[in-house]
Amino acid sequence: MTDLAQGAPAAAVDPAVLRDVAEGLSRPQKELSPRFFYDERGSRLFEEITQLPEYYLTRTERALLQRWMPEWVGGLAPRALVELGAGSAEKTRIVLDAIAAVSRSAVYVPVDVSAEFLDETAERIRAAYPTIDVIPVVADMTAPFALPERLPGPTLHAFLGSTIGNFAPEPAVALLRRVRERMGETDRFLMGVDLRKDPARLEAAYDDAAGVTAEFNRNMLRVLNAIAGADFDVDAWTHRAFYNRQAHWIEMHLVSSRDQSVSIPGAGVFHFAAGESIRTEISAKHDRASVEAMFAAAGLGTERWMTDDDGLYAITLAAPR
Ligand code: AVI
Repeated sequence: MTDLAQGAPAAAVDPAVLRDVAEGLSRPQKELSPRFFYDERGSRLFEEITQLPEYYLTRTERALLQRWMPEWVGGLAPRALVELGAGSAEKTRIVLDAIAAVSRSAVYVPVDVSAEFLDETAERIRAAYPTIDVIPVVADMTAPFALPERLPGPTLHAFLGSTIGNFAPEPAVALLRRVRERMGETDRFLMGVDLRKDPARLEAAYDDAAGVTAEFNRNMLRVLNAIAGADFDVDAWTHRAFYNRQAHWIEMHLVSSRDQSVSIPGAGVFHFAAGESIRTEISAKHDRASVEAMFAAAGLGTERWMTDDDGLYAITLAAPR
């Protein structure tokens, strides 16, 4: 058994986290935050997801960045790149290559909640790009946070991977508005976004044949057992993903396979009937109009918009307005 064993003693858990968990599990549709996916195992499973045949998002975005970054970045000649949710920054290298080709020196500010992950990323980027100064910022992008002062301009702000889709409509606009507030007139915002399409294709991307997404989803329960001393029986939950056609988003759920109670010290005891589910993630799918509506609400205007030939995915560049 690992340190992720069911019911393992919890280290001090942030009371705000326990309040969130209790609040989410007390709603009519029980919910848990997708932030609990990402311990080390969860991050590894997510990396595996990005390479699955059904999960077209990552490779389609990479191809779009390869095709368009030289031109988009060439026109802007940014001297700083601020990336929200940088993670391993693998796809960022395409943007950094384009920046290094046009700017003699530049600053890269990867922003991520995981300090450990961020340090590794910063070391790797420093080694590969000697003309780029890397200043990592550990922060939760769902709340306001500080950036290094006096970044050289123009600054390119980037939010890739269609992570905007994991935010409900209001928090998504709030996040974009915070980006907008940092932007000067010559700065730009680069975003990747997954597009609306055949629901069967979308559902396959979130319920792959190899069961990696199912394991990623269930990993959330292991994480809660490890960090909060919860006693979820991971084997008593099954993965479900479906496209909500009214809301235009994928919903991931964990479905209780029997009547059961789960204790989370400091949060409470929660009862689940057989067949009852916890919603663990939404992944919103957009079209150009829905992206432009979000941008407009945040004070941004689309300057460029490109999709792949099959219209699966888009990258877009926005300016303040
Ligand atoms: C991180 N995020 C953009 C992924 C998505 O597609 O919404 C998370 C994910 N969930 C299941 N598969 C991938």
